[in-house]
Amino acid sequence: MSDRWYSKAVVYCLDIDSFADSDGDGCGDIRGLIGRLDYLSRLGINCLWLNPIHPSPGRDDGYDVSDFYNVDPRFGTLGDFAELLHQAANRGIKVIIDLVVNHTSDQHPWFLSARSSPDSPYRDWYVWSETAPPDRDQGMVFPGEQNETWSYDRTAKLWYYHRFYKFQPDLNIENPEVRAEIKKICAFWLQLGVAGFRMDAVPFIIEKTEPGNPSSPMDFGFLSELRQHVQWRRGDAVLLAEANVEPDKLTAYFGDEGGSGNRIHMLFDFMLNAKLVLALARQDTEPIIDALRDTPKLPAGGQWATFLRNHDEIDLSRLTAEQRKDVIEQFGPEDHMQLYGRGIRRRLAPMLGNDRRRIELAYSLQFSLRGTPVLRYGEEIGMGDDLSLDGRNAIRTPMQWSMLPNGGFSAAAPEDLIRPVISGGEFGYETVNATLQRHDSGSLLSWFERMIRTLREAPEIGDGTCTHVDVPAPRGVLAHRADADTGTMLFVHNLTDESAVVDLSVLAGDAEFPNDVLADQEYPEPDGLDKIKVGGYGYRWIRMRRTA
Ligand code: GLC
Repeated sequence: MSDRWYSKAVVYCLDIDSFADSDGDGCGDIRGLIGRLDYLSRLGINCLWLNPIHPSPGRDDGYDVSDFYNVDPRFGTLGDFAELLHQAANRGIKVIIDLVVNHTSDQHPWFLSARSSPDSPYRDWYVWSETAPPDRDQGMVFPGEQNETWSYDRTAKLWYYHRFYKFQPDLNIENPEVRAEIKKICAFWLQLGVAGFRMDAVPFIIEKTEPGNPSSPMDFGFLSELRQHVQWRRGDAVLLAEANVEPDKLTAYFGDEGGSGNRIHMLFDFMLNAKLVLALARQDTEPIIDALRDTPKLPAGGQWATFLRNHDEIDLSRLTAEQRKDVIEQFGPEDHMQLYGRGIRRRLAPMLGNDRRRIELAYSLQFSLRGTPVLRYGEEIGMGDDLSLDGRNAIRTPMQWSMLPNGGFSAAAPEDLIRPVISGGEFGYETVNATLQRHDSGSLLSWFERMIRTLREAPEIGDGTCTHVDVPAPRGVLAHRADADTGTMLFVHNLTDESAVVDLSVLAGDAEFPNDVLADQEYPEPDGLDKIKVGGYGYRWIRMRRTA
């Protein structure tokens, strides 16, 4: 496997419970996923990120773990999981899993023991306070569904800290036994063959919580410690972290100030996500240009992971009130489309009015901007959402495979499914499904396959530098380039409905034999680069130069 494989990866994120059900009990499972690996392989992805796979009471879609050393019996056994790793590896696909160690479920044996007695060996594994912390009504992650961050436990007769829901008590990271246990969990899964972890809620893992202090100090040392451990256990293992923090705080997650990248390899780019959505809403490239300009410089080996949709709401909290208003007006105008007062709980296709041109444009942008692209299951066929479901479940409906009952997801009775399959209307499985799109070379799925294949020929995107090409252009037209040892790629995207022409002849010196490698339509040869045409909502990926 190549060096730094993660910078050449295309990551596909899925929840086992909603992907494919092999035994007809209504819940997706590992064997179902194994049966769909050929589909994923053909799509061209080479890394799977699995949302939590562990036993869990399931009150936060598995992000409330009750046993870190097993797989949820609804999904199968550890044996099935090992088989999945083997079958994925056969197809060149690496598997990373969610590592949710900021907290456990309140049903985890550690917490049950911890609360039961002051003498429990696990008492100090959690974060307690004898008195009611005055800041307990601050720092909630799920406003509206969560009222406080400290709750009183009647058995322990103490307050315990929970950054997330009440049933997710935070682990005490300052306890060396907890640190050791987290390393052991990583080592266990690495030993089984996972290629790394998507680390959940990293800023909260490393906060050294002090009751009454809403901005507790952070322990970045733990990230260096964990990185060392993980890397020694498996040299090419990768940590991909969720750290939705202020831009000037981001680099500390990658490594020491001014030093090498000795902590997290890859961070999700939440800022770019919000700015991309804003740019699409306003049909104005400025937010993207700002994001590219303001991106902190990463230490060697550091990498961004880009995304448009994930399993949570689109978080717009880093935008200004006015920017947020514009996005909401365009993409989530009705109350029930919004969540937590900061985001949108819809899939991309419905947000973009199911306009095929705009969906392609959005994904062409994401996949051509610097970083490693992450794609959420179902987006490749343009699935919709079910706003009648609670909260984030709206975008967690079963994968739509075919016209068979339940969209081919499961043979169970519809009322026994983990969540209903979207049926009827423009997003129903009868219309939107993988099988129909497989047979149609003009489908969104076929387009994704083509686009991902093209990405393979453009390693500059993942490996190189990405810069805005600053030439006079209409507000809605973005030109950017990616440069690496392998060569140069040029990209032109038009966020508006009106076709445009840009003069990019300043780049002529960088062009050897410019040619379109991916575009929304056939364009005239880009020779000279002085009249680069791009249609309404169009895009062009132009190979400028390739180094032998
Ligand atoms: C992360 C996950 C989210 C989960 C939360 C608590 O933000 O992305 O789905 O609910 O952590 O674990």
